[in-house]
Formats: sequence, C-alpha cells, structure tokens
Amino acid sequence: VPYGIGVDIGGTKVAAGVVDGQGTIIERKLAATPSRSAQAVEDTIAAAVGELRAKHPVETVGIGAAGWVDTDQAVVRFSPHLAWRQEPLKERLEDRIDLPLIVDNDANAAAWAEYRFGAGQGASVMVCITLGTGIGGGLVLNGQLFRGSYGMAGEWGHMIVVPGGHLCECGNRGCWEQYASGNALVRDAKELISSGSPVVQGLLDAVGGVDEINGPAITQAAVGGEPLARELLADIGRWLGIGIANLAAALDPELVVVGGGVSAAGELLLAPARESFRRTLTGRGYRPEARIELASFRNDAGLIGAADLARHSLIEPPGRA
Ligand code: BGC
Ligand code: NA
Ligand code: ZN
Repeated sequence: VPYGIGVDIGGTKVAAGVVDGQGTIIERKLAATPSRSAQAVEDTIAAAVGELRAKHPVETVGIGAAGWVDTDQAVVRFSPHLAWRQEPLKERLEDRIDLPLIVDNDANAAAWAEYRFGAGQGASVMVCITLGTGIGGGLVLNGQLFRGSYGMAGEWGHMIVVPGGHLCECGNRGCWEQYASGNALVRDAKELISSGSPVVQGLLDAVGGVDEINGPAITQAAVGGEPLARELLADIGRWLGIGIANLAAALDPELVVVGGGVSAAGELLLAPARESFRRTLTGRGYRPEARIELASFRNDAGLIGAADLARHSLIEPPGRA
C-alpha cells in the first residue's frame, strides 16, 4: 500500500505526516496555525505537504479541517476557530499540490483513525470526541463514517448545554465546547488569575508564569500533581460526562472515544467524566452504559485518519470507506 499524507488543521496547530497503510506515521511536521487569513493557512499546508512529499513516495493527501465540510469533501462552509467561510479548500490546494486530495472535518478524521486502527476497532456505534481548542465530534456507524445530509453531522461541540451561558465563537451562547474544551480550561484558569485569587499561585509556579498559561501547560501541571490544575480538569471532565449523556440519549453508542490535546490528562479527565455520565444518563440503572475510553492516537488521530480517508476515497473502490 502506498504512503499517504494526512494533515490535521486545528485552532492552534497544523500537524502533517506521512502515513502508511497500517496507520503508522513515518514522518511528521508541526507548525502553528496562522490566524490571519485562509490564505496563510493554505500556505502552511502546502509547505508542509511539499516538504514531506519531497522525501517520501506519496500518492494521496487527506486534509482534516476544523470546520464544516460539505459532502463533496471539497468546501469548508464555516469554521468557528479559523478564517474559512465557504472556502473552496480542495480547489485552492489542488492548484498548489499536484496529488489527489480530499478535505474532511478534523474530528471525523480522528474518529476514523480510532475506528480503523485504534480504540474503536470493532465497535458498531462509536462516538468520538476530541478536546482541543474546541470540541470536535465524529460518529462511525456500522463501519461507516456518518456525515449527515450535508456533511455537518457530529458538531456536538455546539450542542447548547447551558442556555444563555458563555458566548461561543460560533455565535451562540452555552455551547458544550465552552465548558469542556482546552479553551474552557484556559478561560477558567485566567478567570482565577484575573480575580487575584491566591489559589492560583501553585499553578502559576508549575507552568512558569501567566504568559505560559495554555491548555497543554495546565494539562501537564495536572499530570504533575498540581492540585488546582487537577480540579480544573475534573471540572472539564464533569461537563464532558454531561455532554456524553446527551449523546447517549440521542445515539446509544457502545463506545465513546475521547481524544485531542486535553485527553493527555487521562484518568484525571475520564474518571470525573464517567461519574457525571453515570449520574446524568437517562434511564440509568436500566440500560447498558457506553464505555468511555481514551483515544489510542490522542493528538495524532486527525492526521492518521485524514490520510486513511483520502486513500480510501481516492484509491480503493468507492463504497469501501
Ligand atoms: C468545530 C468543529 C471542529 C472542532 C475541533 C469545533 O469548534 O465546529 O468543526 O471539528 O471544533 O477542531
Ligand atoms: Na465532525
Ligand atoms: Zn458554539
């Protein structure tokens, strides 16, 4: 099986990699997501793909983009965290990369990677949740990625869990991703800092100062045992469990796979999530409960899945993926 390139474009990072037919990453490139313009993001993608393909025999490119991608796997209709509005991403990139290429949602790609090669193998109804800048979602139903009628299924980061709650970049208030993402973690920490609360000093010492406060740093501090960081992650975990209970009410999954940067907190996140899930699940006590597991590929799932989706839709017979 030839190599493929996968590119995962999130709110903060562009991760690209050469991936083989078993989902193993052969080489990778990481860059910051330029926030200025759609064009700048496209420059970053083209540069990463150019460097990787110069070194490896690559046949296809899959792009996982943090936005709402149409069913033609070509146009990003909207993105809450990036500058894309009706962006013909596939066409733009094809002008610069002469390889067959597809675009899909970043979390759909992550879900696919987990189903194909990771924690989700064999699950009949698998929900994937990625916790990063926002919350991404993907649903694999009986071996097929479920895209909805227009390509926009799985946007559960924007389910409203708190009517009138925090404003979301999508324009609504109270979206789930305002309560259970990396951004939520950072917002909570910053709120404590700006209130001058003394409880925040240990966290500031652990991360190395106010300017170093970001999702990965807080997660690392929690893993390292810092008490406030652990509490903040437990809060995120409790909100995570409530959202999962909502998803279970709608979809009755067998397995929920949790990935993305914040999932590096492991049990610090999942234990409170499982607990609040069990307390919130409708019909609890009278129904089987979905398992909630960590993603096998954490932050790499998006690029692995994007590469595999491209290979399936561009090389292998249609209908297989
Ligand atoms: C976007 C999704 C994306 C997710 C993770 C959400 O805010 O609406 O399209 O998959 O963030 O990047
Ligand atoms: Na999705
Ligand atoms: Zn929203």
